[in-house]
Amino acid sequence: MTKYKIALMPGDGIGKDVMDAAEIVLEKLALDAEYVHADIGWEFWCKEGEPFPQRTVDLLKTCDCALFAAITSKPKEEAEAELIPELQGQGLIYRSPIVRLRQQFDLYTNLRPCKAFEGNPLNYRDDIDLVVFRENTQGLYAGVEFHPLPADVRMALEKHSANMAAFDNVASEDIALSTRIFTREGCQRIVRRAFEYADQHGYPTVTIVEKPNVIRETSGLMVREARKISAEYPEIDLWETNIDAMAMWLLKNPDDYGVLVSSNMFGDIISDLAAQLVGGLGFASSGNIGDELAVFEPTHGSAPKYAGMYKVNPMAMLLAIKLMLDWLGETAQAAALEQAIAEVIAEGQVRTYDMQGNASTLDVARAVAEKL
Ligand code: NAI
Ligand code: MG
Repeated sequence: MTKYKIALMPGDGIGKDVMDAAEIVLEKLALDAEYVHADIGWEFWCKEGEPFPQRTVDLLKTCDCALFAAITSKPKEEAEAELIPELQGQGLIYRSPIVRLRQQFDLYTNLRPCKAFEGNPLNYRDDIDLVVFRENTQGLYAGVEFHPLPADVRMALEKHSANMAAFDNVASEDIALSTRIFTREGCQRIVRRAFEYADQHGYPTVTIVEKPNVIRETSGLMVREARKISAEYPEIDLWETNIDAMAMWLLKNPDDYGVLVSSNMFGDIISDLAAQLVGGLGFASSGNIGDELAVFEPTHGSAPKYAGMYKVNPMAMLLAIKLMLDWLGETAQAAALEQAIAEVIAEGQVRTYDMQGNASTLDVARAVAEKL
């Protein structure tokens, strides 16, 4: 028996390109691990009407963690049109497998480190080292949505909120409602993970990024819970910032920030902004972490126009391996991989097109493997 069982889910488009790059580095790392391939993505939606087949769910239950590359998602009507003819008209609904994976396995922490590597020509500034903790299962992405607004839902809203009067003259067919549901436990656990991380990695601040002055109940709950947890960490300062102001501060003084924590949608936005400060999609990696399973991924999508060309930057994928190693407790290997990546970036000899180079995806992976 190997020490670890790790699922590899390349998915679609450039997902396959960057997973090939990952495998070069994994081979060099020579972990005591068994790697198993898992089906996920558009191909399986078209052929089977299910982009996240049950066999993949079952396989993941037997794994310690997984590496996921990227999948293609399309709007409802387009998704229906690409099903094989036998599956059309059966009312199958496409839902993003990565969102389902997060919910099904309760991967409630989305961890997004944004660190500027020295010599990266794409850095906005060279002194950025921040980490975003985004709640990954609740809030606006929980999928509790209505259109048209059902009569009983409407009645309940009218009964409980005087502010619904503003919509009195609007027909229910003309109202769409997406809910933003937070639970106390959901707020507590993401904030706690953020403080633990700050504590373990020596960050002096945790910034809670919400909007409690306007979204009083949900943002308010999260900020209040953050204040309570913060009291357990007297050596770490809790800063409170509104999401809109945070976007501005991140451009103005990105070096001021250490750990940021936010709810699902605000965290999504702020982590993409932060990622762009340190090189963008070619460098942005993330972990989706639960108590039982963790899935590590580059945050970019399947970039169909580059699929199979081995042109895109695999650094985000390789940094996802680094996050996985940290999570597994293989911290020496994680540090070695980060060092190898840093050296390849600093030397500037092997770069993909986004860094004004002409190396291939696999060239970069080989250069990193060689440093290892
Ligand atoms: P995308 O991230 O796939 O690509 C946008 C553009 O960013 C690309 O055309 C390319 O110019 C650049 N890019 C992306 N990854 C890069 C890399 N590693 N190196 C260099 N440049 C890179 O986003 P897009 O085009 O909006 O979506 C394409 C498909 O991917 C859609 O079907 C979308 O739903 C899906 N998607 C999947 C995600 C996931 O699997 N987690 C996340 C985002 C989008
Ligand atoms: Mg995003």
